[in-house]
Amino acid sequence: MSRATDVYTQISQATARAFCKHSVKQPSYAAIASELREGESLLDVACGNGIGALWYPNRGYLGVDISAPLILVAREEHPDHHFQVVEPGPLLFGEASFDVAVCKSTLETLESAEVALALFKETIRVAKRLAMIVWYAPPLDLAEDNISTVLAHTSLDSNEVFGQIHQNRYRRAPFIEACQGHVLQITEVAPHQLWRIYK
Ligand SMILES: C[S@@+](CC[C@H](N)C(=O)[O-])C[C@H]1O[C@@H](n2cnc3c(N)ncnc32)[C@H](O)[C@@H]1O
Repeated sequence: MSRATDVYTQISQATARAFCKHSVKQPSYAAIASELREGESLLDVACGNGIGALWYPNRGYLGVDISAPLILVAREEHPDHHFQVVEPGPLLFGEASFDVAVCKSTLETLESAEVALALFKETIRVAKRLAMIVWYAPPLDLAEDNISTVLAHTSLDSNEVFGQIHQNRYRRAPFIEACQGHVLQITEVAPHQLWRIYK
């Protein structure tokens, strides 16, 4: 199986353009947008081709992603929003440097629970007021160390990518522990689960 990071960074420009376009009406975008207060800054972690820019105001917005092809499309299609290619790993932003940080439909696609947990913690770290995580495959409340349940998640326009990336399920406890000291609110926003972490 290809590493998710490689699949995302090596996708063709045509796929980068079509990537996730089918998901634009997912209610989680509206749910995230409704949390934003006027004038707040927003970091969109793993923004893909910038589809969130259709929902989030451009002022104070920064979308970051490891995939240069996706960021290229994001910049072309949303010239009033800012986007940046980043390296996988720690985010190069200080603690609480954005009012709000969001990471949507990403953590479950990563190589391992450890990598996912690290990005989860980073998203919380850079947020001042609120971090939001949107899960397609939320962590499970089970004891097994290695759940790695695979969900079929393919769509016609993103098949080149989703045909190769599994939607992993992780153990829930480490993610809950990482929210300690904050207020965690979990809601179903079908087909997703939205975790709001208020700091
Ligand atoms: C399934 S897509 C979700 C894109 C977008 N958030 C959405 O909901 O449409 C997952 C994204 O995560 C990005 N990604 C993976 N690992 C990352 C990392 N460590 N830092 C930033 N982006 C990452 C991929 O390049 C890809 O664009």
